[in-house]
Amino acid sequence: MTKQLLLGQTLGFSGNPLTSDWADVVEFDSAGGVLIEGDRISAVGHAGALRVAHPEAKVTDYGDALISAGFVDAHMHYPQTGIIASWGKQLIDWLNTYTFPEEARFGDETYAAEVAGRTLDLALSYGTTTLTSFCTIHPESVDAFFAAAADRNMEVVAGKTCMDRNAPDDLRDTAQSAYDDSKALLQKWHGAGRAHYAITPRFSPTSTPEQLTALGALWAEHSTCLMQTHLSEQLPEIAWVKELFPDARDYLDTYERFGLLGAKGLYGHAIHLEDREIARLAEVGAAVLHCPTSNTFIGSGLFDLTGLARADLNIGLATDTGGGSSFSMLRTMAAAYEIGQLRGIALHPSQLMWLATEGSAQALHLRGEIGALRPGAMADITVLDLSSTSAIAQRSRKADDIWDALFPTIMMGDDRAIRDIWIAGERWRDRSASKAPQ
Ligand code: GUN
Ligand code: ZN
Repeated sequence: MTKQLLLGQTLGFSGNPLTSDWADVVEFDSAGGVLIEGDRISAVGHAGALRVAHPEAKVTDYGDALISAGFVDAHMHYPQTGIIASWGKQLIDWLNTYTFPEEARFGDETYAAEVAGRTLDLALSYGTTTLTSFCTIHPESVDAFFAAAADRNMEVVAGKTCMDRNAPDDLRDTAQSAYDDSKALLQKWHGAGRAHYAITPRFSPTSTPEQLTALGALWAEHSTCLMQTHLSEQLPEIAWVKELFPDARDYLDTYERFGLLGAKGLYGHAIHLEDREIARLAEVGAAVLHCPTSNTFIGSGLFDLTGLARADLNIGLATDTGGGSSFSMLRTMAAAYEIGQLRGIALHPSQLMWLATEGSAQALHLRGEIGALRPGAMADITVLDLSSTSAIAQRSRKADDIWDALFPTIMMGDDRAIRDIWIAGERWRDRSASKAPQ
C-alpha cells in the first residue's frame, strides 16, 4: 500500500475545547507529520521520527503551512447555490421569493447534476471535504447530489426535503410520497460508499402532522439514518409554528410528538430555544448546528454557543448556503467569532477550528471517521497557507504563536488560503487532473 507522508505544522484535538480548557486538548506540532496509508491516516507525530520510521513514504513537505482535518459543513442546501447572496428578505419572504422558485428547477436531473457538481467543487476550493445537504422534494435532486459526491469520493450526508403544505404546488409532496420516496432513496444511498442518508422534513411549517408522523415512522424503521430539519430560527417563524401546532409545548415538540427527536437528529439554527427544548436536546444527545453567516444575513439572531455547550449539547458548525452568505468554513468561523463578540465571548481559534472539524463530525455521528487528524480516521485533509494574501501575511509575520498566526487566516482567509486538499488519501488536485477530459 502506498504511504504518503505530509509534513508541516499539524493541528488536532484530544477532546472538546468548548467544554475543557483548550490548552489541555489541543495537539499541535510546529514540525509535525501525518502518515497516510491507503485512504486512512495511520500515524500523526513528529516529522523527523515519522521520516525515519517510514523511509519508503512519498513525502509532501508543506513547510510552515497548517495541516488540519478537512472542514465539515454540518448543514447546507446545495440547491440554493444559485441564489446565494439574494438581497433584502428575512426567512419566510426569502424562502418564497428566492428559494422556492429555484428549488422548483431540481426535478430536471441535468440541472441538479450541474449544480451538485458545482457546489461540491466550490466547497472543496474552500477546504470543505464533507457537506451535509438538504436536497429538494425531487428524488432526482438526491440522486444527483450523492452521485456527484461519489464521483469525488467525498463523505456526505443528504436527504430529500419533504414538504406537503405551505409551499408552491410544484414543490409539494404528500405524507405517503415523502415516506415512499425517502425510503427508496435511503435504501439506495445510505451506506453506499461514503454516503449517509438523513430523513429531511424541511421544518414543521411545511409538513402536515400526517407527514411528520410518516417520517417519524420511517426514522424508527431506519434508525441508523440521521434526521435533519430546522428549529427556532426566527421569531416570526416561531409564532407561525405556534399557530400551526396550538397543542405543542414548544417548537421542538412539533418534532418530538411525531417521533422526530433523537440522538441522530440534527437541528439547524436553534437560536431562540426555551429551557425545556435545551434540556430535551441535551437529554437525547441530539445536535444543534450553528449557522452564523446565515443568522446575520437573514437577520435571525445570535446563537448562544457557550450557553448551549455548557448545557452539554452537541454543536456543529455550518454554512447554511444559500441562506448563509459564504461557502467558506473560514468565513463561517469568522462569523461565529463575531457573534460570540456580540454576546461578550471571545472564542479561541482552537475552539473555532474544532467546531469546523471534530465538532461537526461529532454532530453527524461520524467522529473518528472524519474531521480528525488521528490514526484510523479517513485521510480527508485541508492544508492552510497562513500567509495567503499580503494583508494576512503582514499580520501573521508578527505572530508569536500558532494561534496568533492562524487567527488572521480565520478572519480574513478565503479560497487562496487553501494550499491543498486530500480526500480519502488522494491529493484532490491529482485526482481532478487525472479525470479532466484529454
Ligand atoms: N427554514 C426552512 N427552510 C429553510 C432554508 O432553506 N434555509 C433556512 N436558513 N431556514 C429554513
Ligand atoms: Zn437550512
